[in-house]
Amino acid sequence: MAYFVNGNDIFKKARKEHYAVGAYNTNNLEWTRALLRGAEETRTPLLIQVSTGAAKYMGGYKLVKDLVEDSMDAMNISVPVILNLDHGDYDSAIECIKLGYSSVMFDGHALPTEENLAKTKEIIKLAHERGISVEAEIGKIGENQGAGELASVEDAKAFVAAGVDKLACGIGNIHGVYPEGWSGLNFDRLKEIAEAVPETPLVLHGGSGIPQDQIEKAISLGISKININTEFQLAFQEATRKYIEEGKDQDKSKKGYDPRKLLLPGTEAITDSMKEMISWMGTPSIDDKEADASFDRSSLNEE
Ligand code: 13P
Repeated sequence: MAYFVNGNDIFKKARKEHYAVGAYNTNNLEWTRALLRGAEETRTPLLIQVSTGAAKYMGGYKLVKDLVEDSMDAMNISVPVILNLDHGDYDSAIECIKLGYSSVMFDGHALPTEENLAKTKEIIKLAHERGISVEAEIGKIGENQGAGELASVEDAKAFVAAGVDKLACGIGNIHGVYPEGWSGLNFDRLKEIAEAVPETPLVLHGGSGIPQDQIEKAISLGISKININTEFQLAFQEATRKYIEEGKDQDKSKKGYDPRKLLLPGTEAITDSMKEMISWMGTPSIDDKEADASFDRSSLNEE
């Protein structure tokens, strides 16, 4: 049976060696398979994550875990896979820890800092007892084309001292499509934070639509995990639109209406877009020794 790794070594190595590893949101079966395929074909580690909304849509955190795990087995995935809860609240973080996710993000940005820190510590204790990785958010990532809130160096130090494994920072980044005239990432603040917490992998949320040179600069300064969702949704949408505009869905003799055909171009577009992002991030392929160590081969030997 396949299993999940917590990714701490993977991201620490990325921070040290100045590259990033992608963290991709799953939205359904096709997404899950497209992401696993992209990781396997590039021989790179994969962090697959689910937001609270996507988990609700799909049928809950257990269903998501089973889907990813069973897909890994069905597809003979041999690269390391991390399963992460994205932007979890307190209850969902605890639920995912108990279910066996290998990583959780506790997003307490809406709470007063003291309370956020106290709750983060509780989550860290529960998670670390089970070998699970924890990500926290400082400042605020922007939403719906609106600016967020800049993370402070003080908060970075406090959350790292509390024991977080990865730190998401508000540095001008925004979830979703960036608005016209976006002023770009705040590299000065990123540099200050990176210097204050020199070993902690820093996370860039809202990784879709940021120009390549800014992605590269952010990585050179300490970003080692980049969260991407919208980019693949747009790739899926564009390919699906093309299929329909070409009338292929209406071709009854070829059963173009069959969801397995209708969703295929979009699914393939996710993998293609993922491969492009992997090349931007400079994620190196793992060697076979690392892959073997992260994959339980006992069930294969039984066959
Ligand atoms: P985008 O959808 O903007 O890529 O952001 C993804 C993300 O940060 C998930 O946490």
